[in-house]
Amino acid sequence: MGKLAGQTAWVTGAGSGIGEAAAIALAAEGAIVVISGRTKEKLDKVAATIKAAGGTVHVKPADLAKPAAVQKVADFIGSKLGRLDVLVNNAGVNIQQRTWKDLKPEGVQELVNGNLFSAFYCAMSALPIMRAQGGGLMIHTASMAGRFVSPLSGAGYTASKHAVVAMSHSLNMEECGNGIRSCAMCPGEVRTPILDKRPNKLSEKELAEMVQPEDCAALVLFLATMPPHVCINEVLITPTHNRSYLAAQQRRL
Ligand SMILES: NC(=O)c1ccc[n+]([C@@H]2O[C@H](COP(=O)([O-])OP(=O)(O)OC[C@H]3O[C@@H](n4cnc5c(N)ncnc54)[C@H](OP(=O)(O)O)[C@@H]3O)[C@@H](O)[C@H]2O)c1
Repeated sequence: MGKLAGQTAWVTGAGSGIGEAAAIALAAEGAIVVISGRTKEKLDKVAATIKAAGGTVHVKPADLAKPAAVQKVADFIGSKLGRLDVLVNNAGVNIQQRTWKDLKPEGVQELVNGNLFSAFYCAMSALPIMRAQGGGLMIHTASMAGRFVSPLSGAGYTASKHAVVAMSHSLNMEECGNGIRSCAMCPGEVRTPILDKRPNKLSEKELAEMVQPEDCAALVLFLATMPPHVCINEVLITPTHNRSYLAAQQRRL
């Protein structure tokens, strides 16, 4: 029997990258997994992989920047599945225009809607279910850009991810008495489709040296299998071959 048998997990942004790998890993450990994202075709493919491995999955497409759409998924979870043990609050976006000179109001809106408001809506819709069952775990995919400010990720992304980290800590402060645990997971560079939005193309060698989605999934699984009395408030996961450190060394030489 899997370590998460009898548990229910909701993974957002599960059609690709970190969310896809996390959904597959949680289902492989026996969790019933609900997967959300905007593109149904991507979610269907992930669901097929989970089912082929003997897992249980529900595909619930939604634009998570819309509170009513988020609530609809949460209502399905609450009424049909009856519990929510793990929320992997992972959906996120970046845009190509990263410098202040290129930034437009629509770009800022896309970043704040897609990274911050969506994360708030998912956490808010999960809380009543978790409170009623006496506990639950939220893992929010923030970013190294949510912990440290650097020019690489852009002002809007960095600001929205800093807010996700703050949101996660505030959840622990208010909800720990209800048995609810919140973790801000802060990855450095991970080889996923979001990197297609980088202004500069990355080489195969650079991509291979990054953290892989499966590495983040292993971390999600670790967090999800810690006993309920343990809260891991924040965790950084970065490539050993850290391009920003190496670039800084080069500048010093
Ligand atoms: N890759 C990295 O280097 C890195 C580093 C640090 C943090 N992160 C964070 O990791 C998380 C996962 O990203 P990823 O790297 O795995 O990239 P990804 O493959 O692009 O995954 C992001 C997913 O989020 C979904 N999504 C975006 N906006 C959404 C919305 N409004 N509603 C529902 N779903 C939405 C996308 O699917 P649809 O477009 O179909 O909706 C997509 O499947 C993001 O929060 C990202 O910021 C990534």
